[in-house]
Amino acid sequence: MPTVLRTVAECRAWRAAQGRRLGFVPTMGALHAGHATLFQRARAANDLVLASVFVNPTQFDDPRDFKLYPRTLDADAALMDAAGVDAVFVPSVDEMYPNGTRYLVHEDELSRGLCGAHRPGHFIGMLTVVLKLLQIVQADRAYFGEKDYQQLELVRGLVKAFFVRTEIIAVPTVREPDGLAMSSRNTRLSPAERALAPRFPAVLASALTAEAARAQLEAEGFRVDYIEDRDDRRFGAVHLGQTRLIDNVAR
Ligand code: PAF
Repeated sequence: MPTVLRTVAECRAWRAAQGRRLGFVPTMGALHAGHATLFQRARAANDLVLASVFVNPTQFDDPRDFKLYPRTLDADAALMDAAGVDAVFVPSVDEMYPNGTRYLVHEDELSRGLCGAHRPGHFIGMLTVVLKLLQIVQADRAYFGEKDYQQLELVRGLVKAFFVRTEIIAVPTVREPDGLAMSSRNTRLSPAERALAPRFPAVLASALTAEAARAQLEAEGFRVDYIEDRDDRRFGAVHLGQTRLIDNVAR
C-alpha cells in the first residue's frame, strides 16, 4: 500500500528523503480507471509516484455537491497500490488552509467562460489548491486529464505565471466502452440516468452545430449549461438529475 502522508511537514520530509524524479497526480479521490491511467503515465516516466487525495472545499460552488462528493479512501488505496503509487498525501482542510481563504489565486480571462460562467468561484478554489499542492510536493511532473480541459489550460497558465518548475503533462480522456468519459461523479447517476448519459458525448461529437446539439440534448432530457465551440474543440456541460457532467472533444 502507498505510504500515507497527512501533513505538509510529512510530505516535504518524504520528498526530501527520496530526491529522485517525482511524478505527481493530484486527485479528489473516488478513483477510477481514468486516474489509474494518470498513475501509469506517471509511473512510466518517473522514479517515484506521489498522489494526493483531497476533496477541496473551496472549489465547490454548491455545498451540497461538496457533501455528496464520493469519499472512498480504502478502495482508492487499493487502486493506487495496484497502479504502483509510492505515497499518497491526504491532508486535512486545516492543513491546506492554515489561514483560511485569505489568500486565493484569481485568473481573469480563461476562467470567465465555459464552466467558470456556471460555477462561480470554482476555478479560484481549484487554482489555489493546485498551487498549494505543487509548492508542497515539488514534483518534476504533474499529470492532469484532458476531460477537465479548461482546468488543464488554467493550470498550464498558473505554472507559467508563478514560475513553478513542475512540468504539466496532459493525459487523454479515458472513456467507458459506451463513450461516457470516466468521472467520479458517474457513480451518482441512477440506472436510468447512466443509460442516457452516453448520449452526451455522442451528441457532442456529432456533426450538429453547437446550437443544434444543445437542442438535441435538451429534447433527450438533459439540462444543458453550455455547448460551445472554441478553437479546435467542442466543450459541453450538462446535468442529469443531481449530477453534472462535463466533456470535450477535438473537432
Ligand atoms: O481534477 C481534480 O480532481 C481537482 O480539480 C484537482 C486538480 C485535484 C484539484 O482539487
